[in-house]
Amino acid sequence: MSDTVETIRTVRQIRQYAPDPVPDDVAKQLLRVARWTGSSRNSQPWHFIVVTDREQLRRLGQLRPPIAWLAGAPLGIAIVLDGTSATGEAYDEGRVTERILVAAHALGYGGGVAWFGDEKQQAGAKRILGIPAERTARSIVMIGRATTRTDPRPNPRPGGRKPLSELVSYDRWGRSRS
Ligand SMILES: Cc1cc2nc3c(=O)[nH]c(=O)nc-3n(C[C@H](O)[C@H](O)[C@H](O)COP(=O)(O)O)c2cc1C
Repeated sequence: MSDTVETIRTVRQIRQYAPDPVPDDVAKQLLRVARWTGSSRNSQPWHFIVVTDREQLRRLGQLRPPIAWLAGAPLGIAIVLDGTSATGEAYDEGRVTERILVAAHALGYGGGVAWFGDEKQQAGAKRILGIPAERTARSIVMIGRATTRTDPRPNPRPGGRKPLSELVSYDRWGRSRS
């Protein structure tokens, strides 16, 4: 397997970080990657808020317990969408998020995605970050040097992945390779 492909395969969710700030140059590289992400009809329906203020991150982390770990991360990139096309923007948001995570990993940093929660919690995140109410803001991508891959949440998700044999068919649904 090529090194690049292996780098992509080994991207994992990081939730615990060293306190060291993320250098500006690293943040800029991630933003360039985000900027060049393809989007539906090349609409580029996003705006990125780089958050390094610990108090802001702590307040975001208080929106719901599974994202309390935001308080310990040095930097986040909140993804704000235009709010004009729900399905297209959800897809675009996933693409740009994954690219940021992959780029961070390639640069030796860890990354983790956090969802703010339901509509009320998203409204809370918008208030904290000063985002206009009509925009969509449901997630933030955290970046920093990983200290561990352990999931510190009270109800951690099991790791690992389903085997390819459960995930893939050939030529027709349910058909295994002969
Ligand atoms: C759409 C989406 C939302 C997620 N939201 C959260 C979240 O709010 N909090 C969190 O700790 N992890 C969140 N995750 C991370 C997943 O839990 C993680 O990708 C999954 O458990 C696999 O982790 P691994 O790659 O380390 O095995 C989210 C992932 C996705 C794709």
